[in-house]
Amino acid sequence: MNILVINGSPKANSDTMHLTNAFIKGMIEKEEHSVEKVNVIEKNIKPCVGCFGCWKIQNGKCLQNDDQNDILEKVIKADVIVWSFPLYCYGMPSHLKAVIDRLIPLSKMSMKEENGVVAHDTLFDLSSKHYVVISGCGFPNWDGNFDGLRLQCRNMFSNNLTMVCVPETPMLSEPTAQPLTKPLLEKFAKAGQEYIENLKLSEETIISLETPMLPNDVYIQIVNQNSQG
Ligand SMILES: Cc1cc2nc3c(=O)[nH]c(=O)nc-3n(C[C@H](O)[C@H](O)[C@H](O)COP(=O)(O)O)c2cc1C
Repeated sequence: MNILVINGSPKANSDTMHLTNAFIKGMIEKEEHSVEKVNVIEKNIKPCVGCFGCWKIQNGKCLQNDDQNDILEKVIKADVIVWSFPLYCYGMPSHLKAVIDRLIPLSKMSMKEENGVVAHDTLFDLSSKHYVVISGCGFPNWDGNFDGLRLQCRNMFSNNLTMVCVPETPMLSEPTAQPLTKPLLEKFAKAGQEYIENLKLSEETIISLETPMLPNDVYIQIVNQNSQG
């Protein structure tokens, strides 16, 4: 299987990538799979200019000649695409959003309505692709923090989507938090094994991955103790 990991954190030491790396380790533990990682921040990817030139030419490429065309080729070849990124202002970081916007060369102008959802037809058969979204965030767990992102990803990736939204992820880069982060990393590795076997995760597994490492009040207290004011 071809696994493409698209890392949307701008940081060299990404909290979210700690989780994603554990998940990938689990995916390849029992069987060999090809894994390719793309660090979006290192790429030259301009925003979409909205010309719809790709819909006129229909060759799966963007008319802007930058690194996005390589990413489009990798997306076409991948069986599983793992999107790993931090939550920024209730959505995804802007450099990653540019990658998502510029997936439109893979679709066509024509539309269809299925089960109450309207979507564009695709230029290639993308129906067998599977998508995993792993997103970390700095707040403790609260209703609404990930709502906008969840809706956006559901609309973008339809039914083959597995989404894991994890609160309190700055702890992943904090050595003193290891007694709490190590068990979570182990759960992600196990989840990677479950995913590669079934190409989905059970609801129970997702809940366990999204369970906060610390109660909200304790987490907020620790953050505030360490903040500058
Ligand atoms: C510009 C910016 C916006 C952010 N917005 C949110 C947010 O809306 N909600 C949240 O819980 N955390 C937010 N965070 C915190 C990050 O999601 C958090 O630090 C995360 O662990 C970073 O992951 P990374 O190391 O993989 O990049 C924001 C951070 C930055 C820099």
